Amino acid sequence: MSLPSSEKLPQHVAIIMDGNGRWAVKRGLPRLAGHRAGTENLRRIIRACVEFGVKYLTIYAFSTENWGRPREEVDGLMHILEDVIDHELKELNQQGVQIRHIGRLDQLAASIQKKVLDAVKTTQHNDRLVLNVAFNYGGRDEIVQAIQQIIRDGVSAEKITPDLVSSYLYTAGVPDPDLIIRTSGELRISNFLIWQAAYAEWFVTPIYWPDFGKEEFLKALETFSNRDRRYGKVDSKEYEDNHA
Ligand code: IPE
Ligand code: IPE
Ligand code: MG
Repeated sequence: MSLPSSEKLPQHVAIIMDGNGRWAVKRGLPRLAGHRAGTENLRRIIRACVEFGVKYLTIYAFSTENWGRPREEVDGLMHILEDVIDHELKELNQQGVQIRHIGRLDQLAASIQKKVLDAVKTTQHNDRLVLNVAFNYGGRDEIVQAIQQIIRDGVSAEKITPDLVSSYLYTAGVPDPDLIIRTSGELRISNFLIWQAAYAEWFVTPIYWPDFGKEEFLKALETFSNRDRRYGKVDSKEYEDNHA
């Protein structure tokens, strides 16, 4: 696998980091062991993004629907988020990673909210990689929040455009994802970036997230670089060549 040239790299990669539970169960381990292994892998992929020159990485870490899991697993996932911030912030900051949070912060424990806000503040001037952490994130929730704020701001109906809606989302100012990767083989969006994904390219692999390493990531980037993104259009030169 070789790294595509910079103009063929996605500017924004978004990842549905799925399959941690099955990875663990396959090994006779508790599901939380899979989530821990997943965070180890995340470290590898963040490093790879910095090395390869990907500018934006959005990771789906906890969905608004994941509250429906057993209490022990939800608590464990909250704990892992705190742990990751405690142990990784320094290195992420040194690597030039700017951490952002997307999703509902107000429903998380006060201690977690504080850690997340600290991490965002500490890294706010970094510019090698923007890392959007989708934690307690749901695409429908994001759109509902946006509509509520648009109404509160008294925006008149004719002023509402796609760009205006985008500017009210958690991802305001971030380009839409070019490439969305989903590990563990599921062919669904699971409420992730449902607005922003309008023209994203997809790469789905059966590999579980803890095993999705740098080589697999390179494969996803290479596959992306060979995609023909048409955005609903027909290439005018090709059209003329075929209809001359
Ligand atoms: C993804 O792994 C991580 C989270 C949703 C937090 P899963 O926990 O969904 O793993 P599977 O899909 O059950 O294997
Ligand atoms: C999506 O995975 C959420 C995250 C990766 C955080 P899920 O495992 O929750 O999605 P479903 O239930 O398979 O759709
Ligand atoms: Mg899953």
